[in-house]
Amino acid sequence: MRNLTPATITKAFAEYAKKAPDKRTRTLMVSLAGHLHKFVRDNKVTQAEWLAGIDALTRATKFTDDKRNEYILFSDLLGVSSLVDMVNALKGGTPSSVLGPFHIEGAPEIPNGGDLWKGQVGEPLVVSGRIVDHKGKPAKGTVLALWQNSGNGLYAQQDSQQSPTNYHARLKVADDGTFCYSTVRPISYTVPDDGPAGDMLRALGRHAWRPAHLHMIIHAPGRKPLITEFFPKDDKYLDRDAVFGVRGPLVLPFKKAKDRKKLPAKLAARETLPMPVWTATLDLKLPAG
Ligand code: BEZ
Ligand code: FE
Repeated sequence: MRNLTPATITKAFAEYAKKAPDKRTRTLMVSLAGHLHKFVRDNKVTQAEWLAGIDALTRATKFTDDKRNEYILFSDLLGVSSLVDMVNALKGGTPSSVLGPFHIEGAPEIPNGGDLWKGQVGEPLVVSGRIVDHKGKPAKGTVLALWQNSGNGLYAQQDSQQSPTNYHARLKVADDGTFCYSTVRPISYTVPDDGPAGDMLRALGRHAWRPAHLHMIIHAPGRKPLITEFFPKDDKYLDRDAVFGVRGPLVLPFKKAKDRKKLPAKLAARETLPMPVWTATLDLKLPAG
């Protein structure tokens, strides 16, 4: 095509991609190019502005390795990771949320009623709950992947003082769908903001804080894993999560229990658990499908 204009360039792009071997790829790329073209037209983007964007992506390579991915961080901070999660979410049940960068495969298994805290820094927390399927029946054979930051605000991967799997675990729920474990109360923390994604936050007058959260992947037999996270109701960053991960039903009261006898039996029996202790109760429902 010759004599292209701002109005015809998107059509030309679609035309050039007519022989794309994969239809879905063509649909996505033509749509993406069309949105970018519209963005440039609508904002009359200058060369300097476009180069600043390319420069940010170029600098992102320097901040990306096997432990950190600045491109994923851009996606998270732009709300795109969260939006991809939301548009693919199954209806009903416990909402999903973003995975984040700190999940590890093959975390050690802890027993139902086990402990992740081990007397480390921070305030101990007892998490207990039940998982049912969309019909309200116990989700037998479910395995939970659990991870969170330590009481010093850092994930094990960010802190050489912690063992590599500290606060990472897998737990098999009981046949009646119940589970409990002790851990530390997670605390709010900032996503890494020393790279170009952090520069974007500063340019927008935004902060890098995430509210405190407990991550979980629910692996129920025969179902797609449900990636989610839970937030304490009293966290001050709930309405300004840097990565847009908060969903109403994932916000829970964290309550102080004074009476050991009110804890799940397995944890009530553990004398080393100091009282009073924080508690959080998770009533989880798997979406249909
Ligand atoms: C997190 O959940 O820890 C996280 C999520 C997105 C970006 C950075 C951190
Ligand atoms: Fe996290």
